[in-house]
Amino acid sequence: MTRLDKMASHYKVINETDYSDSFGERDAFALDVLVGLSETQKAIPSKYLYDARGSELFRDITRLPEYYPTNCELEILENRGSALADFVADKAFNLVELGAGFGRKTQILIRRFAESGLDFRYVPIDISESAMAGLVNQLNGDHPSVECEGLVSDYFNGLKWLNNRDDRLNFVLFLGSSIGNFSHSESRVFLRNMWNCLNHGDLVLIGFDLKKDIELLLHAYNDKQGVTAAFNLNLLDRINSELGGHFDKAKFRHFGTYDVNSGGMESYIVSLERQTVYIDMIGRSFTFRPWEPIHTEYSYKYLIAEIEDLAAETGFSVATHYFDSRRYFADSVWRVDKPRPSR
Ligand code: AVI
Repeated sequence: MTRLDKMASHYKVINETDYSDSFGERDAFALDVLVGLSETQKAIPSKYLYDARGSELFRDITRLPEYYPTNCELEILENRGSALADFVADKAFNLVELGAGFGRKTQILIRRFAESGLDFRYVPIDISESAMAGLVNQLNGDHPSVECEGLVSDYFNGLKWLNNRDDRLNFVLFLGSSIGNFSHSESRVFLRNMWNCLNHGDLVLIGFDLKKDIELLLHAYNDKQGVTAAFNLNLLDRINSELGGHFDKAKFRHFGTYDVNSGGMESYIVSLERQTVYIDMIGRSFTFRPWEPIHTEYSYKYLIAEIEDLAAETGFSVATHYFDSRRYFADSVWRVDKPRPSR
């Protein structure tokens, strides 16, 4: 049986590629660390912040008083669940979530949609089979009457597979300001790829963190308890445990800052002294000057006008924006616009 044929109880593995924590994945990590630490301006891609410990720490961040985005989006979904249901009230649809969701936010929507008697199937898409198995299990326990079919796949192959399988309307969720972790050009590529995989009239709901008072941003990414610092510095632990690195975390600090030109929060791990660190699996050492940074994450913030430009540039029309009461965050609903094929 190939992985393509494999059908677990309520999720399906779409890609032949084994995305589990395999040697190939570790190799890719080692390569990205080698390349990133060899640059004049050192940088490691933010996706590596999310190992098991990093994901736990991120969950802790979402519960911090300073980290407003999660509560803002919860408030929006609580207050606007019925309005969102109106978009899909008259047809059967797939409620697609990019990322193994079913966090508090998705639960609000699923509950509201189920209570409204909508005809939908929940389709989370995620490359991690273990995350998917956990999610499907939890959903079965909490909402046994909601049909759920998880797809273990990268986002775009999952969306394409879904589109070939049925002609239901798709309502795609990309919550939590994850779009902000892409550069402006990456977000255009991502959204255009999504557009390619969807049909005219399909809907997407995207969470955008809005530009706001810089002090609020700085506090959100430099919390008092140091959870964000632990989240960022955990990357060094991950390099130590997975790649045989010899980083001493006490010789580095977290630094979160806002670039007014780009509109992005930027996270860095900064070396507190001159030091040389060997990484066994890479087979070489890297030297850090005192106060030299490693860039680890961007979190771009948006104006409504920028959101609307992004939608227009990537082939969507904006249906509406929903805001929290403080207007810190927007959940923006877009429709896929596809020109009719010319005869
Ligand atoms: C996952 N992502 C949307 C978070 C953000 O706000 O960029 C990750 C994060 N990094 C530090 N705090 C939260």
